Amino acid sequence: MSNDAMATMYAQHIDTLQTRTQEALARESIDGLVIHSGQGKKHFLDDTIYPFRVNPQFKAWLPIIDNPNCWLIVNGVDKPKLVFYQPVDFWHKVPQTPTDFWVEYFDIVYLKQANTVEKHLPYDKSRYAYIGEYIEVAKALGFDVVNPDRVMHYLHYHRAYKTDYELTCMRQANRIAVGAHKSAAKAFMEHSSEFEINQAYLLAAKQGDNEVPYGNIVALNEHSSILHYTALENSKPAQNLSFLIDAGASFQGYAADITRTYTTKAGHEFADLIKAVSALNLSLVDKMKPGVSYVDIHKAAYLGVAHILTNFGVLNMPPQDAVDLGIVSTFFPHGVGHHLGLQVHDVLGHASDDRATQNPPPQQHPFLRCTRIIEARHVFTIEPGVYFIESLLANLKGSEHSKYVNWNVIDHMRPFGGVRIEDNVIVHQLRNENMTREAGLG
Ligand code: GLY
Ligand code: MN
Ligand code: MN
Repeated sequence: MSNDAMATMYAQHIDTLQTRTQEALARESIDGLVIHSGQGKKHFLDDTIYPFRVNPQFKAWLPIIDNPNCWLIVNGVDKPKLVFYQPVDFWHKVPQTPTDFWVEYFDIVYLKQANTVEKHLPYDKSRYAYIGEYIEVAKALGFDVVNPDRVMHYLHYHRAYKTDYELTCMRQANRIAVGAHKSAAKAFMEHSSEFEINQAYLLAAKQGDNEVPYGNIVALNEHSSILHYTALENSKPAQNLSFLIDAGASFQGYAADITRTYTTKAGHEFADLIKAVSALNLSLVDKMKPGVSYVDIHKAAYLGVAHILTNFGVLNMPPQDAVDLGIVSTFFPHGVGHHLGLQVHDVLGHASDDRATQNPPPQQHPFLRCTRIIEARHVFTIEPGVYFIESLLANLKGSEHSKYVNWNVIDHMRPFGGVRIEDNVIVHQLRNENMTREAGLG
């Protein structure tokens, strides 16, 4: 991708955001938005600070992700104004004067002291909304309108439609993550510890713990059954049976969110289970198209997992019965995926329109993060899984449905933990683009 091509796409991206801003302002009857990047947050009774996470509404406009105390003033018509924080500070690295492709789209003023920003902000605060996390800062500056629902809902809803610039960033985030996944898989095969595998991943991604979009899940053996396992054991387990890695990468503020599962036991049924879940993943990706409800993709995943469970002899019942009785939830207790973008779980998955009319997930599937109708330019993860989770298996064993389970098969699989295969997919009008597979991860 040439710099020129990127610049052209970025110009279109800014146009789109300007148009969205106009509509959001009209709905709230205000003149503009003042978007705060955020500020440093101290640990309790300490003078060290938490890693900085920029306001997603701020990084939607430009790829500044590491600079607190910056502000954007936008009204959808005039060139956006950027107040760029650049203190005189000999303790910390001072942000460089930006020269990137995006600078020409902003009128930039430089701020030396965070608490003197007032002079750069609009005079009549009553006509502007503060968009950011720090309500007390907004009030002290004189803003009455803070994160107004009508504006937030509108912007959040439309953020699901990615611009070409955003899709380019997300492809690149996928490429970075895929390279790092390959390094992690190699480290697993060399019998490294979880901690070492995570180091191999971050080194290959050239991203630190606080740069990747979420805490990496690097799970060996039965740890793979803990859905959000982030403990990173330092010692090597006696044997390295299986490895589940759910790890992403960031590019210019956009996230990748990818999961793969591996085993060293090529002849074991668990190796076939990995293949079966991967095949299910691809068939679910194929089912997505504009006009289809994401809920139906989840239901297809649920039924697909039921088929896998009967094919592998885990359950001795027809797949549809396993679905109807909810038994599949023991083995697949999460949703099939979610919107992806500036945030790993991108916002407003349960809205049916840009006023955020709620469309909650079906009662049987409370953890499904998205119930929207799929449309072109939406980006989703698709992440089916099959797990052997001790607490959920204990519930099933104690229930009337225990008779449908071949517990000897479960015992054979338990030490391997579980499988998840997660890809990142752009839905286009006429085809789907599986960014993860196209970046070379099988
Ligand atoms: N990495 C968290 C998720 O897959 O949703
Ligand atoms: Mn994930
Ligand atoms: Mn995910």
